[in-house]
Amino acid sequence: MRIDIITVLPEMFTGLIDCSILKRAQDKKLAEIHIHNLRDYTTNKHRKVDDYPFGGEAGMVLQIEPIDNAISALKQQRAYDEVIYTSPDGEVFNQPIANQMSSYENIIILCGHYKGIDYRIREHFITREISIGDYVLTGGELAAAVMCDSIVRLIPGAIGDEQSALSDSFQDNLLAPPVYTRPAEYKGWKVPDVLLSGHQAKIDEWRLHQAMERTEKLRPDLLEKKE
Ligand code: ADE
Repeated sequence: MRIDIITVLPEMFTGLIDCSILKRAQDKKLAEIHIHNLRDYTTNKHRKVDDYPFGGEAGMVLQIEPIDNAISALKQQRAYDEVIYTSPDGEVFNQPIANQMSSYENIIILCGHYKGIDYRIREHFITREISIGDYVLTGGELAAAVMCDSIVRLIPGAIGDEQSALSDSFQDNLLAPPVYTRPAEYKGWKVPDVLLSGHQAKIDEWRLHQAMERTEKLRPDLLEKKE
């Protein structure tokens, strides 16, 4: 899968997309993440990509020309499944959307800007608008990084033990059960006996029970979505 991110703040992605599982997925050629500086696509000699809004409001708005140039240049090279715009007014991102996007070949993510982008871009180039939650960020870069992380980790082979992506919280509208590691007892606090029993069927049953109990207690709304 290939993800092209268009942003005015390319430096914000340093460290976010090149460590841990995202790095491993890219090293294994399961995913390619390319960051494009919007300023590389403007014809303005000062590399300016924003301007005052018509109608006079505070703040600057990203212009259509550099964004058209960036998206068109990418589209000339390959077909894209989706051209996504990150915005607080978008559809709220969740695990089913991450699952769906992890099966795509190519996507573009255009990062939103705090005062917005010329609306014609949203009308003519964007196929889907995504929010990562009901709060306002200063720009769409963190939202794009969040999406990349949750999508790429679902690509088969990105996580060492494939089972572990399938048993994530939300994958099944259930929160994940508790996990423990050595030592089996610390300051008198013990790991549940069943996990040390070696009896796999009992362990699975315990995990499911814990997942149900934690979901009922912490996120009962998820159980309503469970078929
Ligand atoms: N840009 C600003 N706030 C955002 C949000 N909540 N989700 C996605 N993009 C955003």
